[in-house]
Amino acid sequence: MKTLINIGIAIIASATMVSCFNDKKPNYQYFPNMYEPVGYDAYGEYEIFPGQQEAMTPPENTIPRGFQPYEYENSTAGLELAKAELKNPLEVTEENLAVGAHLFTIYCAVCHGDKGDGKGILATREKFLGIPSYADAGRNIVPGGIYHVETYGLNAMGSYASQTNEKERWQIAMHVMDLKAALNGEPGVLETAKAMTSPDSTKVTEEKNMEAVTTSEVEHK
Ligand code: HEC
Repeated sequence: MKTLINIGIAIIASATMVSCFNDKKPNYQYFPNMYEPVGYDAYGEYEIFPGQQEAMTPPENTIPRGFQPYEYENSTAGLELAKAELKNPLEVTEENLAVGAHLFTIYCAVCHGDKGDGKGILATREKFLGIPSYADAGRNIVPGGIYHVETYGLNAMGSYASQTNEKERWQIAMHVMDLKAALNGEPGVLETAKAMTSPDSTKVTEEKNMEAVTTSEVEHK
């Protein structure tokens, strides 16, 4: 009888001690500052912040560092305006073209084809329809328009703004213009750029724009 009571006491005692034990948390904190942050927790709730929320929206009229606002709106009118006004700020170089070609293979060739003829693997398998050839005269493929559709996408084509930065989109646009020239049997963009001898006024502004792009990049890093 006595042993039975002893066993009973032992079971109850161990149950009370073990049932409160939580192995997901440190049991006894010697220096709580090592566990509990002194600063504010990201997304934490604190009365000091508006809306009691640590994560606040950026102040109005500010932009993230390294981000260049894009002023053309996502509409047919915006596309037409970008086609008419927007020029590639990058200098035509072998390096820019090579990077553009590389990125084109990654992001665009599945639909548009390596040659830009609109016969990528997804087109031939009829996964996407209505992919144009860059040589399609009715499309008027120009650098500003290419940059615009890379930024926003166009109907079945998605936006590439989250995968590519500004400079990369212009490099791809340069390569697309090279593909268009090849499809039309015209000299490539590098040859055309070299053929342009005396630097005229447009060239000067292009160089200025180029500077703007590189500075924003440096800031980004
Ligand atoms: C999922 C398939 C797909 C991918 C990937 C894709 N496109 Fe397209 N693209 C399309 C389709 C479809 C259209 C025709 C859209 C329309 O006019 O409705 C199009 C149209 C275009 C046009 C013509 C725009 C105009 O002015 O009419 C350009 C330029 C272009 N794409 C460039 C690119 C570039 C550069 C990439 C890679 C960054 C790319 N596309 C990736 C499907 C794709």
